[in-house]
Amino acid sequence: MANKIVLTGIKPTGKVHIGNYIGAIKPALQLANHTDYTSLYFIADYHGLTFIQDRNEFNQLSYGIAATWLALGLDPEKVVFYRQSDVPEIFELSWILSCTASKGLMNRAHAYKAIRDMNEQSEIDPDTGVNMGLFTYPILMAADILLFQSDLVPVGKDQIQHVEIARDIAESFNRTFGEAFKLPHYLVDDNTAVIPGLDGRKMSKSYNNTIPLFESSDMLSKLINKIKTDSIPPTEPKNPDSSSIFTLYSEFAEQDQVARMRNRFESGISWGEAKNELFQVMNSFLERPRNKYDELLANPEQIDAILSHGAQKARAIAAPLLEKVKKQIGRYV
Ligand code: TRP
Repeated sequence: MANKIVLTGIKPTGKVHIGNYIGAIKPALQLANHTDYTSLYFIADYHGLTFIQDRNEFNQLSYGIAATWLALGLDPEKVVFYRQSDVPEIFELSWILSCTASKGLMNRAHAYKAIRDMNEQSEIDPDTGVNMGLFTYPILMAADILLFQSDLVPVGKDQIQHVEIARDIAESFNRTFGEAFKLPHYLVDDNTAVIPGLDGRKMSKSYNNTIPLFESSDMLSKLINKIKTDSIPPTEPKNPDSSSIFTLYSEFAEQDQVARMRNRFESGISWGEAKNELFQVMNSFLERPRNKYDELLANPEQIDAILSHGAQKARAIAAPLLEKVKKQIGRYV
């Protein structure tokens, strides 16, 4: 039986932080090593364009995200790793799909709907701040997914609706023009722990409580020292399971180190010492990827070479299906 196709898009938004790494990148890298799957990972740069409209920022975010994945060990020989905007077939399909996708479906898509609801509450024009790219975002995402006959789409919970929309769009195309697209399934990883940020709430860009992945070790140490702790005196026992420091430590340390740290919490470790231990494991884990990241960003042509090689592979997979679709709509005999 043919390998299952696993595909996911990475939207270049802000600086990648520890929460992104543990919640999304680490599980995706594990999936990429799975031999029953053919994995496609791409930088969804034109999705980013719906809200990043500054040339430098757009450029830096795209290269930054590519360098991040490569630095963390994504092997471009094992997976198809490309930049969305290098694959024109996606955009051609996106248009074709937009002609069978209903507008009502877009009206219900949550990203657009959230802005609309907010505008309505503020009693301003409901479409204020909405560009057409944002409105039709789910159609481009459907094209990303359907063009590669994806079976599984690993995403965060917030993207489930978009994968369902891709299924709807596939079904309506198949109904109108005959079978062309496989119906994709989303894959949500429920097992990943919620990674606490500096203030103890979920680490998230919107809470401004993140630890960026590739800061200098000095900055890393400073940020770790900022993690909020309670006022239990240094030698008193502490509950590891309610401690952000312990949770983070467990993600980066070996199992036996984690077991030892649990004992030290229970028998009393000062917060200062716990933070120092956390810094040590995180820094030693991040040191190599950080160097690799800096090296890649200093040589963006190296990143370009990797991505264009990936785009060639992606286009070779995409082209035959797009041809088939064009035949089905009557573009040629
Ligand atoms: N919309 C996704 C996000 O915001 C990124 C994305 C774009 C994507 N195209 C995709 C994810 C296709 C999975 C499949 O995270």
